[in-house]
Amino acid sequence: MEIIYVKDYDEMSEMGFQVIKEVIETKESPVVSLNTGGTPKGLYKYLVEAINQGLNINDTTILSLDEYIGPKDAVYTVKNYMHKRLIDLVNQKPKNIFLMDGDTQDTDEEIKRYKELLAKYPRDIQLLGLGTNAHLGANEPGTPFDTMMFLAQHHESTIQATMREYGIDREEAPTEMLTLGLKEIAEAKNVLLLASGKHKAQAVKNLVEGEITPDCPASILRDCKNATIIVDEEAASLLSKK
Ligand code: GLP
Repeated sequence: MEIIYVKDYDEMSEMGFQVIKEVIETKESPVVSLNTGGTPKGLYKYLVEAINQGLNINDTTILSLDEYIGPKDAVYTVKNYMHKRLIDLVNQKPKNIFLMDGDTQDTDEEIKRYKELLAKYPRDIQLLGLGTNAHLGANEPGTPFDTMMFLAQHHESTIQATMREYGIDREEAPTEMLTLGLKEIAEAKNVLLLASGKHKAQAVKNLVEGEITPDCPASILRDCKNATIIVDEEAASLLSKK
């Protein structure tokens, strides 16, 4: 795992964008798997700007890391987020957009469908955020490293984070999510994790310096040669060596 230290949120966003841009520019049929949350909002701003200025995405396939179980048009869905922050803002159409359906009556069938897509479109890059408890996607602490796509239950701290991020109350907040498993996350050709802010400092410390264990899902990345993490000063503030 490579660690890139940057100053602040904006520098993290710009650098993360550059990594995604390089994939889009250099691969023949790029496959980019994206995530949501507060962390990548800045990256998507840079990406939208670049696409509208000519970065060609006509051959790019977009996949997703996860999707909340809930009504399609709920404020917190990955679908909504992707449309609001990327798809509806650009003047080009990607080749494919394959998001998960969290409104399905049959999650087993949806998992089967999405796994087939993953097999057909091997990911050139998987973008990730970091939960305050070091979860990846919805792989909460305790999830085995060999887990494949599944219907995950959120821990309470994740539900609280979702409530804060989307300004919703406990009753409205989703408690379950379809997510790629840790094994699939690590299998992407490149894995890029972004972390910014003091509230991520402990999770970053556990990821970089703690034990490699399912109790810290993100620690799976430590031994991955294909993984890069970009951390800003606040997120890196608890690390003993930099
Ligand atoms: C959520 C999402 C992840 C996201 C993470 C961090 O639980 N399932 O995809 O990366 O939390 O979110 P944030 O960037 O808002 O801190």
